Amino acid sequence: MMLDVKDIHTYYGESHALQGVTLSIEEGETVCLLGRNGAGKSTTLRSIIGLTPPRRGQVLFDGVDVAGRSAFRIARKGMSLVPEDRRIFPGLTVRENLQIGDYRRPGATQAWTIERIFDEYPMLAELANQDGSTLSGGQQQMLAVARSLMSQPRLLLLDEPNEGLAPVIVQQIGQLIDQLARTTTILFTDQSVHFALKHARRAYILEKGRVVHTASSDDLRADTDTQHRYLSVA
Ligand SMILES: Nc1ncnc2c1ncn2[C@@H]1O[C@H](COP(=O)(O)OP(=O)(O)O)[C@@H](O)[C@H]1O
Ligand SMILES: [Mg+2]
Repeated sequence: MMLDVKDIHTYYGESHALQGVTLSIEEGETVCLLGRNGAGKSTTLRSIIGLTPPRRGQVLFDGVDVAGRSAFRIARKGMSLVPEDRRIFPGLTVRENLQIGDYRRPGATQAWTIERIFDEYPMLAELANQDGSTLSGGQQQMLAVARSLMSQPRLLLLDEPNEGLAPVIVQQIGQLIDQLARTTTILFTDQSVHFALKHARRAYILEKGRVVHTASSDDLRADTDTQHRYLSVA
């Protein structure tokens, strides 16, 4: 397993947000973490990468327990998170936003360069000198993912990449995930089931800080009871 999350418990103060989350991802897989608003999706990703470290449990990355290490050190092992709010830096151009993502882990080959990103995503090349904060929501999401790629991640964590985006843009984000999935292991979150079934091989469903269901996308597609019980079915 590339990632093995074992029974993690994460708190905000006294509030017990994750009450024993267990999940694992093999190298090369694309997996979705589903659940309604407040279920614990963001907290799970933030716990994995060390931004809200779990108080109990293990986060094994390549077999090494990284729980309790700093987010910076975990990221350097080859994980990158694109947060829900995308964090595009205002006052910096698209190119500068990409440069900020360029911190390589020791030993990583630089598969992703700014040149390659501009080559593969010409839309970003056209916007290269524009202030990142002037971009549309969809463009900011593309930029946030591209900035993550600059750290040459082996595991990409995407927190609700579709949030607030128009259907046509959601389709483009889906294509981007499919394309990246050929070379990168991906864990993304979503509130509704449709996109997840299309772009992930399997899914975990969270509710109230616990994994309540796990299934292949094919099985979950057929299981409308589970969909209605735990998810927003938009
Ligand atoms: N910064 C925070 N402080 C206190 N409670 C939080 C904070 N962030 C999230 N929570 C709580 O933790 C739980 C899980 O939230 P979150 O992981 O953001 O869910 P999701 O991403 O699935 O919408 C919710 O009950 C939420 O209210
Ligand atoms: Mg969230």
